[in-house]
Amino acid sequence: MEKLFDVLVVGELNVDLILSDIEKFPEIGKEVLAHGMTLTLGSSAAIFASNISSLGAKVAFLGKIGNDKFGEVVLESLKRKHVDVSMVKTDEHAGTGATIVLYVDEDRANTTYPGAMDLLTIEDITEEDLKKARHLHFSSYFLQPGMWKGLGQLFKMARNLGLTTSFDMQWDPKETWEMDIEAILPYVNVFLPNEMEIRYLTGKNDLQEAIDYIKKYTETLVVKRGNKGSIVVQKDYLFDLPSFLNEKVVDTVGAGDSFNAGFIFKYIKNENISACQRFGNLAGAISTTASGGTKAFKNYETFRKSALDNFGIVI
Ligand SMILES: Nc1ncnc2c1ncn2[C@@H]1O[C@H](COP(=O)(O)OP(=O)(O)OP(=O)(O)O)[C@@H](O)[C@H]1O
Ligand SMILES: [Mg+2]
Repeated sequence: MEKLFDVLVVGELNVDLILSDIEKFPEIGKEVLAHGMTLTLGSSAAIFASNISSLGAKVAFLGKIGNDKFGEVVLESLKRKHVDVSMVKTDEHAGTGATIVLYVDEDRANTTYPGAMDLLTIEDITEEDLKKARHLHFSSYFLQPGMWKGLGQLFKMARNLGLTTSFDMQWDPKETWEMDIEAILPYVNVFLPNEMEIRYLTGKNDLQEAIDYIKKYTETLVVKRGNKGSIVVQKDYLFDLPSFLNEKVVDTVGAGDSFNAGFIFKYIKNENISACQRFGNLAGAISTTASGGTKAFKNYETFRKSALDNFGIVI
């Protein structure tokens, strides 16, 4: 049967309030002026959802917001990217997650209020929700304590219903790196950490040792390596693909989520793993050509033009 969505994204939702052009960091008890301000959709899962939708996939989001103005900003931003929000839950007791970002030149200081992000649990996700999609992507494990216990079960449920699955655990702000690998990764088709994250998760400083440890648990391991590109690992297969190097990086915000969007866009079309990796590297590189996480992904046509103009790649 034809599914309603190609991808269901489960993850954190928050806004970023970015204050820029600040003369100096504020001191306790004093006040400084910022000459720039932007309010945008901030979460990593939402950047993934927006960008894979812009590439042409049919995408739905399931996450938790508060009943407030920031929640409206989140919903409007997703809708503008043609992401279905009918499965987003509203919590009456917590506010929508928000990060205040203070930019002084290149340095920044962030403060995050997790709010409703803390409260999403497996109880919020039904078999009926999962059945609407062909693929499940989950992002930002450490930011969603409500999901810690149930994540393995969620992936297992999805796989039993015939969905394929992908997982980007992202950074652990508390740096505990406590995650039940054995309960989660066997039900994940594509695991997408970056190089630092997989080292910390395994406690192994040597990348090859970290890869050897994790590849036992998951079908496809993808290690993102910034401007060095990515490594894809399956049983007896390992391919290290250099990046489409961007010499004039605007910013790297969302490069990892854009990589995920490119990789999974090809994966859900059943393309071979090297085509997925190449498209992931390309999407990550294209993301660095514009500010923020979603600007470089307007639609497939502009993406195609950017690939040609910036990297000489025909897609
Ligand atoms: N300067 C760059 N030039 C070209 N490609 C890049 C550059 N930086 C990143 N990429 C591409 O984007 C991919 C993902 O970037 P990165 O490794 O920074 O992910 P990440 O650390 O998960 O990022 P995020 O902070 O968004 O979570 C890389 O694997 C690479 O293919
Ligand atoms: Mg990342």
